[in-house]
Amino acid sequence: MTSKKILVVGELNIDLILNKIQGFPKIGTEIVADSMDFTLGSSSAIMASNISILGVDTTFCGVIGNDNFGDFVLNQLQFKKVDTQFIQRSEKSKTGVTVVMSYDQDRANITYCGAMKDLNKNSIPWSDIQNFHHMHISSYFLQEGIKDDISWIFKKAKESGLSTSLDLQYDPEEKWDFNYKECLPYVDIFLPNEDELLMLTGQENQEVAIGKIKPFSNTIVIKLGKNGSRLINNKSDIKAAPYLNKKYKDAIGAGDSFNAGFIQKFLEGASPEDCLKNGNLMGSLSTTCAGGTTAFSSKEHIEAQIESLLINNNNED
Ligand SMILES: Nc1ncnc2c1ncn2[C@@H]1O[C@H](COP(=O)(O)OP(=O)(O)O)[C@@H](O)[C@H]1O
Ligand SMILES: [Mg+2]
Repeated sequence: MTSKKILVVGELNIDLILNKIQGFPKIGTEIVADSMDFTLGSSSAIMASNISILGVDTTFCGVIGNDNFGDFVLNQLQFKKVDTQFIQRSEKSKTGVTVVMSYDQDRANITYCGAMKDLNKNSIPWSDIQNFHHMHISSYFLQEGIKDDISWIFKKAKESGLSTSLDLQYDPEEKWDFNYKECLPYVDIFLPNEDELLMLTGQENQEVAIGKIKPFSNTIVIKLGKNGSRLINNKSDIKAAPYLNKKYKDAIGAGDSFNAGFIQKFLEGASPEDCLKNGNLMGSLSTTCAGGTTAFSSKEHIEAQIESLLINNNNED
């Protein structure tokens, strides 16, 4: 257990998840989804919610609308013991919504950003920043209010003595306009998935892509879906096998749950190997239930599920 406190800065939205969809949507026609879930969405909120349940003291900084979806987001975070004192209500924008069309291992998302665009560098509680040990930011490309200041924000967090992590997530515009040379020196742990790393660097080969960002990075952690994960820094280049499970439901929030597991161990001062393993474990756990937070309902539930994941995988020491 760690007594360290994490501040998660990021976007907030609800997820409307459609599963078992009969075909692909086409203009002028209607298709049916045989299963639907309504959950807390957003990469940042899923990470915050799950790392909180894992026992880390977690505070969220973000913006929601003055509406029912905003109430739902707030209730869900509070239910997971996340401190919401730095979540603001926007008067002009509605709470963000993502409609997720989930097909087996992958999904197509439509996001209405709404109030998530209202978050900016001044929303961050700089006068209280010394109360925190770590800052995590996710979904850079969705957050217009912080995009231009991302390097400034990470530099200031580092100067304030915090460790930092960043998960860019996918760029819906596919422009990949992120100045990694300027920002990554202030990011202790950079957490892309393989696709995002290749798109960001404009490369097709993982090794070449790593070579591009390595000179500017501290630790790079690449999420490899069903293939587990890999960590690269000046001292190590290690891979960790996934925890395959038979209860697979969807991959929503697997990356955010991985982030929660990895950062939990990082804050405890664990080895890179143990951080990766715990990331893989939590990523796999997330895929056993719908959405990104359902599998993290309580510590007891997590412990029972983890036991079966460990028994069914032989990649433990
Ligand atoms: N089908 C799966 N079985 C077991 N583990 C998985 C599966 N899919 C994802 N994971 C775990 O979750 C992590 C994050 O998932 P990934 O899909 O790579 O990230 P993202 O959600 O960001 O695209 C992976 O590194 C892996 O450890
Ligand atoms: Mg991701």
